[in-house]
Amino acid sequence: MKRGLQMNIGVIGAGAMGKPIAAQFAAAGHDVILANSRGPESLQDFAKSTGLTAGTRFDAAKADIIVLAVRWENRAAALSDLDLTGKILIDVTNQMEKGDLPENRGSLLLQSHFPDTKIVKAFNTLYARYLDGNTTGARRFLAFAGDDDDAKSTVKAIFSAMGYYPYDIGTLALGNETMEFGAVLSAQHFTVPNDKTLTQVLVKANDGSWELQVKESE
Ligand SMILES: NC(=O)c1ccc[n+]([C@@H]2O[C@H](COP(=O)([O-])OP(=O)(O)OC[C@H]3O[C@@H](n4cnc5c(N)ncnc54)[C@H](OP(=O)(O)O)[C@@H]3O)[C@@H](O)[C@H]2O)c1
Repeated sequence: MKRGLQMNIGVIGAGAMGKPIAAQFAAAGHDVILANSRGPESLQDFAKSTGLTAGTRFDAAKADIIVLAVRWENRAAALSDLDLTGKILIDVTNQMEKGDLPENRGSLLLQSHFPDTKIVKAFNTLYARYLDGNTTGARRFLAFAGDDDDAKSTVKAIFSAMGYYPYDIGTLALGNETMEFGAVLSAQHFTVPNDKTLTQVLVKANDGSWELQVKESE
């Protein structure tokens, strides 16, 4: 691990989400390894133009922070045989499956398969075209959730330095409930003016559902 906020970050998945996220980490000064299914050769041009390194998923898994940015159905193959003990895993995936999903789904299911990994759910509420931090005079709202407070404060600092307005939703279970595709925070692409802070984002309605009620400081 490097000093301060400079981290080694491995991004697994180099599509609509993985590429811009990896490029933003690299632009913020982190050492980034980006991996896809086709192999490092296919990422050489992108790596050269963004200042990151193309590697295999095994190379990416050596980093302190791993980002999972593959489609839900490819997660097992992307993570198989990787030792993620003690690492932070930023889970970008949405479980895009039809029908009623069990409670132990999404990031919680991933956490149950990797009990010694600190999973933080983030970026999955934003459509790829909204993956930007600083917008003019404002910062993009970026929800995140997880059960490990140290991991959350690390990623919060990283997201903030990238220009986002990171907002801790709470536990991974709450993240599942409010951040999965179709949930209350999904596709909430609002920004927060640079001179404001958020005092509230969600409130619980009488029927137990979550409602978006964003309040900014005066
Ligand atoms: N697109 C969005 O706007 C959006 C928004 C929020 C959340 N998400 C979630 O983010 C995740 C990624 O979505 P996406 O749109 O970026 O998907 P995508 O464009 O299809 O990219 C998926 C990437 O995963 C790689 N991959 C597949 N299997 C792999 C394996 N075994 N090992 C390593 N890499 C592997 C693919 O490699 P190749 O390039 O070699 O095929 C590709 O680079 C999904 O779970 C999605 O639900 C997407």
